[in-house]
Amino acid sequence: MNALTFKNGDKMPIIGLGTWKSKHGEVYQAVLWAIESGYRHIDCAAIYDNEKEVGIALEKAFKDNMVKREEIFITSKLWNSCHRLEDVQPALKKTLRDLKLDYLDLYLIHWPVSFKHGVGFAQTREEYYTYSDVPLSQTWEGMEHCINAGLTKHIGVSNFNISKLTEIMKSASLAPEMNQVELHPFLPQNKLVDFCNKNGILLTAYSPLGSGDRSASIKMPDEPSLLENKIVREIADRTGLSPAQVLIAYSLTRGIAVIPKSVNKERISQNLAAMDIRLSTQDMKALSQIGTSFRYVSGSFFTGAISPYRLSDLWEQE
Ligand code: A2P
Repeated sequence: MNALTFKNGDKMPIIGLGTWKSKHGEVYQAVLWAIESGYRHIDCAAIYDNEKEVGIALEKAFKDNMVKREEIFITSKLWNSCHRLEDVQPALKKTLRDLKLDYLDLYLIHWPVSFKHGVGFAQTREEYYTYSDVPLSQTWEGMEHCINAGLTKHIGVSNFNISKLTEIMKSASLAPEMNQVELHPFLPQNKLVDFCNKNGILLTAYSPLGSGDRSASIKMPDEPSLLENKIVREIADRTGLSPAQVLIAYSLTRGIAVIPKSVNKERISQNLAAMDIRLSTQDMKALSQIGTSFRYVSGSFFTGAISPYRLSDLWEQE
């Protein structure tokens, strides 16, 4: 299986099943279909509010000998309300209970944004912590303790820009091993990819298909469609791939892992079937000149008037 390799030699399969937005009553079956069709990597997060159901599916898969624990790579993410040193391990332990696992393969800080303990989504200024209240270095120290306690094999971050990565690397005993960010032909993240490559940080692309199933509250009215983009479609038609497979292959060709979400049996298999596909230099060039620039997960839900955070805390200033 195609994989990214960590510094200690551990491998992460390059395609994983995304579970953000997978609903109750759907994600159990999606995880089992995925494992059945050959996925060996599932991407989860506490805030997706479906880890318990993913855990029931994993338990079933292990019980029925579909896969052994050591043969499947499981990622989860620390929510914003558990960034204080003393809150990190309890949050990971809760995720492990929900997923019915003894350890994770990879645990990520979900966002460089902190809420007070117990807050789901901050609605008032008082529900936020600032960087002086809870520095990211404190949260990272908590992540390092999780490795030392054997609760996860690898640690990393998500939605971190170069300056935030640099900040935690200054005080880290263990460098972040992964940065999971939105990445696709409308958002190639060239500067961030270069920085991560130079610093030995692996990358995972989220929302590789444009996450068209986001709720209306976090969607813009006239978003451009990746799956219907003319250049993506032209490459798909010419190569006999589906548009989704072209978009998955775009990240694979750049050596970046990718986690398309699906709860549909046929699309789950179709997405994994892109595993060995690499696009030609010409097709990659056409995608690099696609002419549309767009971020689907804008982060503006964390940067409103009541928030101490700004978009510059999240994204590269291009
Ligand atoms: P579904 O779950 O019904 O398959 P992203 O991974 O960027 O978040 O995108 C997820 C969205 O893309 C979901 O709406 C998902 O729907 C859809 N999707 C997943 N795989 C494919 C595919 N192969 N072709 C078209 N749409 C897909």
